[in-house]
Amino acid sequence: MKALVTGISGFVGSHMAEFLLLKGVEVVGTIRNRSRMDHISHLQQDIRLVECELRDPFSVEALIGAEKPDLIFHLAAQSFVPTSWNSPIDTIHNNVAGQVNLFEAIRRFGLHSKIQIACSSEEYGQVNPGETPIKETNPLRPLSPYAISKVAQDYLGYQYHKSYGLHVIRTITFNHTGPRRGENFVTSNFAKQIVDIEKGKKPPVIYVGNLEAKRDFTDVRDVVRGYWLALEKGVPGEAYNIASGTCYTIAEMLAILLSHSNVDIEVKTDASRLRPSDVEILLGDYRKFHEATGWNPEIPFERTMEDLLQYWRSQ
Ligand code: GDD
Repeated sequence: MKALVTGISGFVGSHMAEFLLLKGVEVVGTIRNRSRMDHISHLQQDIRLVECELRDPFSVEALIGAEKPDLIFHLAAQSFVPTSWNSPIDTIHNNVAGQVNLFEAIRRFGLHSKIQIACSSEEYGQVNPGETPIKETNPLRPLSPYAISKVAQDYLGYQYHKSYGLHVIRTITFNHTGPRRGENFVTSNFAKQIVDIEKGKKPPVIYVGNLEAKRDFTDVRDVVRGYWLALEKGVPGEAYNIASGTCYTIAEMLAILLSHSNVDIEVKTDASRLRPSDVEILLGDYRKFHEATGWNPEIPFERTMEDLLQYWRSQ
């Protein structure tokens, strides 16, 4: 069994590769010439890397024609919401064109690959009172160009399944974190700031954005197990929420991180961290996914936060 992981050098891609290797699957991953390799350097003996620019249809066709994978975990994306306000077209082009090129290449070679696509709870966007926990049937009211790109990826998955019978499973993943999380994202950003203070690298002040937002966090190691189960047991064309079913305000998340450190830290708002529109609450209902696959989140949030701090302490 051969699996292709797009974006293998990224946060989720590196955890996906580790999981697949434990399952005894042959792992091929895409990288670009500017990809950072530090997340996968420990795996390089066991995986095969192929340079591929997903935005370029020729590059993708060459990859798919040569590899003909049984499973595809499509994780490559511009995934940071604020970047999508700075360069909306780039985010939309990157995320949408990359996936279309992948689908078209699979179609052209007549492959029956099972394809997981990484959709996002950001698609739900504005959630009105009484609409939580969020089900797959909730309205989509996206609030950022990134969210729009994910709505497009999601519905292209639906459309390519309906139009051409592609075996696409749409995983709608809520926030996820853990070791190796990029330092732009809130959990990792705060953990790294705390560790920099512990190490005496910066004064004891932590800079924050909107602490009122509520997010539903799952450990990345539970998420990649979910992606595997999605391809094993999910129904093609269907969308599934992957979430913990619990949410924390960003202030509560910060308090958990601070409780695992013994330095005294002052919290200051940095206006540049506030967004033109922020999603107020994401709290997922993952029952549909549980019923289809038996998946449950297993790693408690406290442990994920401790592991994240340990990760930064070890850097
Ligand atoms: N990044 C960041 N930095 N966010 C902050 C900060 C800060 O200093 N302070 C507060 N926040 C708030 C943001 O305003 C947002 O409400 C929340 O923390 C989470 O921000 P991020 O970690 O950047 O994640 P996100 O929720 O915007 O998006 C993540 O989750 C999506 C799934 O819902 C990303 O991982 C996306 O790729 C993913 O699709």
